[in-house]
Amino acid sequence: MRSYKVPPNTAVRGRVRVPGDKSISHRSVMLGGIAEGRTEVSGFLASADCLATLEAFRAMGVRVDRHTETSLTVHGRGLHGLQAPTQVLDMGNAGTAIRLSMGLLAGQKFESTLTGDSSLRSRPMERVARPLRMMGADLLTTDGKPPVTVRPVSQLNGIDYALPVASAQVKSAILLAGLYAQGVTQVTEPAPTRDHSERMLRGFGVQIETSGPRVRLAGGQKLTGARIEVPGDISSAAFFLVAGCLAGAEDFVVENVGVNPTRTGILDILKLMGADLTVHARPAQGGEPVADIQLRRSSLKGIQVPESLVPLAIDELPVLFIAAAGAQGETVFTGAAELRVKESDRLAVMAEGLTRLGARNELAPDGIRIEGGRRLQGGEVDSHGDHRIAMSFAVASLLCDGTIQVRDTENVGTSFPGFVATARGCGLQLSEA
Ligand code: S3P
Repeated sequence: MRSYKVPPNTAVRGRVRVPGDKSISHRSVMLGGIAEGRTEVSGFLASADCLATLEAFRAMGVRVDRHTETSLTVHGRGLHGLQAPTQVLDMGNAGTAIRLSMGLLAGQKFESTLTGDSSLRSRPMERVARPLRMMGADLLTTDGKPPVTVRPVSQLNGIDYALPVASAQVKSAILLAGLYAQGVTQVTEPAPTRDHSERMLRGFGVQIETSGPRVRLAGGQKLTGARIEVPGDISSAAFFLVAGCLAGAEDFVVENVGVNPTRTGILDILKLMGADLTVHARPAQGGEPVADIQLRRSSLKGIQVPESLVPLAIDELPVLFIAAAGAQGETVFTGAAELRVKESDRLAVMAEGLTRLGARNELAPDGIRIEGGRRLQGGEVDSHGDHRIAMSFAVASLLCDGTIQVRDTENVGTSFPGFVATARGCGLQLSEA
């Protein structure tokens, strides 16, 4: 089992660039695969999660040429051109891959089975299967979890569905099934979630209407291959954004970060905590806003995090807990029960690690209260195989007087291949064993 050894770190400096956005990379292969013509993707995230999507679509007959690690051509087969896979589709650790594929496969004329690693096989899939069944789809989960079998049906019908939880994966799965349905499919969100599917569908020529919390599309529309430049993933940038607030030198900049407003909750939360950060806009890429973000060491203060920002920072909350441990006073997160069904139970796993390092905290069913402002001790923390937990505790070294040993770091490669080199490049010392 791999681990990180992270000595106490004191500063980050220079310019950092993170790999492509995971959500957008998954979608580029999926939508490219059912489009007509070629889709040229640059800045693709060549991580285990996105490669699982790529292999699954290859297994359904989609030709994908990889020119370099991050640039590829997807040869679309059209809305009805996918072929029955000859094997079970293994989505590895990737929730986005399995849930969006469930929606897309619900409309196919063949049977398919989707599975994943032990983490994915413990995650809830009925939240997607239920609305798809309301559309007429035939899906079978295993006690609500993967493996999931999707069987062909003669017809799907559009639905008008109010999401019970704020989830971009569920919204996207329904919209993808909606492409194959008779009539109009409408989804209403309880709170805004990432809108990459809507933006990319538009980029492929699909008429999709958004008004307030509602998004709707008519079935049967064809997609036309497009050019997609994937911006840097703000969820990977997050580790360096927090590092910059805790220990950024004058020149510290995180470059080329996707700043879609449905993803920038982390910037708003850090600003509320008193962060010295400046967003320098760059030209948009693939219909998505992009910026360089400059950060300086800041005196962070504890806050009550507004619940409205939680879905807009959902994947960044673990590293924001580290920011909270470095802030003066108490920070309270509520409305974050979704963290319990991510790659690990991120509330419980972060609380365990923070306690190990001496950061006082109190768990609640839907959040955590963290007392910040004191130096942390070193020690051993277990990521429970969760990439974002592993990287968050590497950042905690900026608050520590002793060495941190982070156990079970293998899955960092699911979202951020090259994390160790990037971290070292800006002065965050860590070694991998
Ligand atoms: C994602 C949506 C979010 C997020 C995940 C990626 C997406 O999940 O946590 O990492 O690409 O749509 P939920 O929809 O379950 O909140």
